[in-house]
Amino acid sequence: MEFSVKSGSPEKQRSACIVVGVFEPRRLSGVAEQLDQVSDGYLSGLLRRGDLEGKAGQMLLLHHVPNILSERVLLVGCGKERELDERQYKQIIEKTIHTLNETGSMEAVCFLSELHVKGRDTYWKVRQAVEAAQAGLYTFNQLKTRKEEPRRPLRKLVFNVPTRRELPIGERAIQHGLAISKGVTICRDVANMPPNICTPRYLAEQSQALADKYDNVSFSAVDEAQMAELGMNAYLAVGRGSEHESVLSLIHYQGADADTPPIVLVGKGLTFDAGGISIKPSANMDEMKYDMGGAASVLGAMQALAELQIPVNVIGAIAGCENMPDGKAYRPGDVLTTMSGQTVEVLNTDAEGRLVLCDTLTYIERFSPDTVVDVATLTGACIVALGHHASGLMSPHNPLAHELLNASEQSGDRAWRLPLWDEYQEALDSPFADMQNLGGRDAGTITAACFLSRFTKKYHWAHLDIAGTAWRSGAKKGATGRPVPMLTQFLLNRAGQGQHD
Ligand code: BES
Ligand code: MN
Ligand code: ZN
Repeated sequence: MEFSVKSGSPEKQRSACIVVGVFEPRRLSGVAEQLDQVSDGYLSGLLRRGDLEGKAGQMLLLHHVPNILSERVLLVGCGKERELDERQYKQIIEKTIHTLNETGSMEAVCFLSELHVKGRDTYWKVRQAVEAAQAGLYTFNQLKTRKEEPRRPLRKLVFNVPTRRELPIGERAIQHGLAISKGVTICRDVANMPPNICTPRYLAEQSQALADKYDNVSFSAVDEAQMAELGMNAYLAVGRGSEHESVLSLIHYQGADADTPPIVLVGKGLTFDAGGISIKPSANMDEMKYDMGGAASVLGAMQALAELQIPVNVIGAIAGCENMPDGKAYRPGDVLTTMSGQTVEVLNTDAEGRLVLCDTLTYIERFSPDTVVDVATLTGACIVALGHHASGLMSPHNPLAHELLNASEQSGDRAWRLPLWDEYQEALDSPFADMQNLGGRDAGTITAACFLSRFTKKYHWAHLDIAGTAWRSGAKKGATGRPVPMLTQFLLNRAGQGQHD
């Protein structure tokens, strides 16, 4: 879809549809008021007769409003004016897009970007509107033989901003919103792809495709033979029960001088996690195709980055692997020597993510990174702790933790910090090796992060557990594209481009 900004008065728009807000109870917004005057009280008349209360999400599509140049006017309920918050704003936009998409208008001028949302400026409102629109129109129908498309889809959306002075800010917001949406879309596409198609090899191909598209993006990979040479035995052990070879894919984005230390994003890429010999129960096991959600989000963030062309160096490391039970599979009781030299006793083959990640975290030391953020659907315990609203954030480095929390706040892609105190480390003590891969029942999200922390001493590091946020279950099952907005915001901020005025 195409987006643009302009600054004009509603009655002068000549569009298929103009979109204005109505507050509860039956109160016209400023722009709606303007339309009302030009149309000799047509809108206030409707409200008086009770056609629209103004409750958040209510829609009323009008045709032939007197003296209005646009073919249609869409009145959108925005709830009580003083209660309009970020969440409600996004929901209203999404609903509006759906309505426009399913009714006749193929283009529209939207004045909702002028509504007052507490603490948020024009940049934020336009960018969130672009992201909500793109997310709302997302479909995954590549694998359906009959694809249902709307008859007259929305093609063009213009956001109005209050003053001409804000046009450049609005344009920047659209550019950022589109880049992030592109990243979110690729993340969702790859994560939704079934595990018989989306294999470690497939993740490598998607990474390669990104490098083919952009001049300053390149691709490299580490295959099983190379992993064996490097001593990445923990990573290799996890993939041993699978027919699909493990592949660590690396996407290199160069936006700054070659000698600027890179930021490395590491993504857990379990294209299917059956649990291995410690096999999972079969209910909802299909959802373990999303166990590569971290990898998909790294791919998405790299896509957004390449689109934005910001002046930083970033490497995306996509740790592709499949965890299956088999005669060759690794077992509980095995002791593995990781690439770092530290040994690990396997107590549960379903705690595989940390094994794949620990060797990847050691491998990337060769890039002398300044900062490393890993993203992983690592623990079911994170869903117990935070539910599906916030990703778990853990870092021993306070400034980095705060940077990420800021990015999450700015992008509306929530994260919540959990502690990584040394006291938790003891849970990993093993009688037979340097550590075990399991920390027991308590604080499972934290002890998993403690495990990873032992492999991240050479750089500033943070860990995002996205088990609860990477996908939705139930009727709307599917990948969410999180935390691509947060990661991209973090990179924008690092490049000094998070500030927009
Ligand atoms: N991929 C899972 C974590 C997960 C579970 C994500 C459910 C989303 C929903 C991970 O590999 C796993 O199996 N973790 C175990 C760890 C345990 C064995 C210490 C878990 O969370 O049960
Ligand atoms: Mn597992
Ligand atoms: Zn897993």
